[in-house]
Amino acid sequence: MTQVEQNKALIPILKRVRVVPVLTISDAATAVPLARALVAGGLTHLEITLRTPAARDSMRRIAAEVQGAFVGAGTVLTPQHADDAMAAGATFLVSPGATAELYAASKNWRAAWLPGVATASEAMTAQAHGLRLLKFFPAEASGGVPALKSLAAPLADIVFCPTGGVGPGNLASYLACPNVICVGGSWVAPDKAIAAADWSEITRLAKAASTTL
Ligand code: 3PG
Repeated sequence: MTQVEQNKALIPILKRVRVVPVLTISDAATAVPLARALVAGGLTHLEITLRTPAARDSMRRIAAEVQGAFVGAGTVLTPQHADDAMAAGATFLVSPGATAELYAASKNWRAAWLPGVATASEAMTAQAHGLRLLKFFPAEASGGVPALKSLAAPLADIVFCPTGGVGPGNLASYLACPNVICVGGSWVAPDKAIAAADWSEITRLAKAASTTL
């Protein structure tokens, strides 16, 4: 499937999953138990940000060792990031924004790509490239639920995964938006719980998130 077809194919899947953990992993040795804890809580699609040197190794380990986990890469800023992430096993790619360079390179990718948008114009650019599923980022700072509701009527064919400032307090209101299929966030895997290897706490948070709505 082409990248554009993969983007479309991910819509019904993320509609079921509802919450995508955003993981910034500093020690690749925690990647597998962390992913297992999240999958045990019902969260199968994991976005690993490329912000740490451990990110690529973490993706490789999860892809190889954690049954039921689907590895995605976050903070994809350049075509090189996308190539590295796909080589490490990423099946979906997420960017905080989009550039002409990423749009051009994305034609050759075989993974789904969710560019980040925060305005109608940015969403229209993504739509012009054939993409329907977009990251809405930074969600809270860009107007949150009211902004998403305002985009629903004019951009009827676009669906969003809002990320940035989403958590237990506003999760339900985001998921209730007609044009929101899932949300992303880091709250399900707090640094403190990872440092303490408190995997049952992470499974508890994942379960609470995956059973909202
Ligand atoms: C990110 O890319 O950092 C995500 O948007 C996570 O945001 P959060 O930490 O506010 O959930």
